Amino acid sequence: MNRAIERCRTVRLLTYPDGMIQPDDLTIAETGLPGPGPNDLIIRNRWFRVSISTRLMASPDAQAVEGIPFPALRPGDALADGAIGEVVACPPGSGFEVGAFVSHPLGWRDYAVVDAGHCVAVGRGPIEPAAYLGHGWTAYAALTRGIQVRPGDTVFVSSGAGAIGSMAGQIARKLGAARVIGSTGSADKADWMKADLGYDAVILRNRGPIADQLKAAAPAGVDVFVDMVGGEHLAAAAAAAREGARFVLLGALTAELNVAGASIAAPVELDSFQLILRDMTLRGYSADRDSAEGFPEWIAWQREAGLHFACSKVQGLERAPQALHDACEGRLRGLVMVEL
Ligand SMILES: NC(=O)c1ccc[n+]([C@@H]2O[C@H](COP(=O)([O-])OP(=O)(O)OC[C@H]3O[C@@H](n4cnc5c(N)ncnc54)[C@H](OP(=O)(O)O)[C@@H]3O)[C@@H](O)[C@H]2O)c1
Repeated sequence: MNRAIERCRTVRLLTYPDGMIQPDDLTIAETGLPGPGPNDLIIRNRWFRVSISTRLMASPDAQAVEGIPFPALRPGDALADGAIGEVVACPPGSGFEVGAFVSHPLGWRDYAVVDAGHCVAVGRGPIEPAAYLGHGWTAYAALTRGIQVRPGDTVFVSSGAGAIGSMAGQIARKLGAARVIGSTGSADKADWMKADLGYDAVILRNRGPIADQLKAAAPAGVDVFVDMVGGEHLAAAAAAAREGARFVLLGALTAELNVAGASIAAPVELDSFQLILRDMTLRGYSADRDSAEGFPEWIAWQREAGLHFACSKVQGLERAPQALHDACEGRLRGLVMVEL
């Protein structure tokens, strides 16, 4: 055991949120470092991801969700999310070295004790933490495994400035899309999406019907829809779909970020007759199921692709609860990452 590290700080859920998650719903607990098991690494975390999915997982409703790769949280539970840290101690023969960087699932704390089987080496040299922690892989998997983008496609990405969306628009372009349209909640994000993320047009939610705005942005219709939002966005994209359109459904922010409270129900009305006539494909997809096989391919692909890793970086564990609140309120852009 490493004697120099005796205390560690962990962010825990204090109470179920009432409506939007607030920083005061979380607390930072200082405890002794848990004793490592025979196969455990002690890791000093350097970066961790803040995902808006935590809001849903911190709601009582989440206890009823099955098939989501995050555990539901109860008051007192430690939060967790993807992290990158430096190995401080490791058992001999574990295949890891002190000083190396690893990615693992126990963010939201300054030190983590993690089974070696849940750690992946990311090398010693300078690394791009956003390539590992960000949702580029999710977007890449959705557009290469969930559905396929074809050269010349018109692609629509809902929540196009978000963690997944900020990567999906760029990746779709690299895979051959001719026109890429995104949606967002504010005019300044829309300007940034066109300038930095390469979107051809941006639709503003809460500023008139999405269907009308999409018709103006894509007069010839939509071939591919990458959906993070559901609801009105999904109905509008279905109405604008061209023959053979492919929709990959990744999230339902309309329910997850509902101001009244996170929900696991995201109903939407679609015209099934039109889906049939236009030979459309709608696929719900989780990148998790392909990550063991596909993640190394993504890491190699993104090195060549020259993508812009949009990231809102926050310094210090004590700022992480506010960052989660701000992310859910739509105040941040791209991946939200805490640096320790
Ligand atoms: N299938 C998978 O493999 C997979 C993996 C990870 C996550 N997910 C899911 O994918 C979805 C997107 O995840 P993400 O991390 O990339 O989130 P995100 O898009 O970064 O979500 C935050 C953004 O949502 C937008 N927003 C806020 N309130 C909203 C509302 N009421 N309706 C619609 N949009 C709202 C805001 O952006 P604007 O202000 O720009 O609109 C905000 O910045 C989530 O549902 C998540 O659970 C799926």
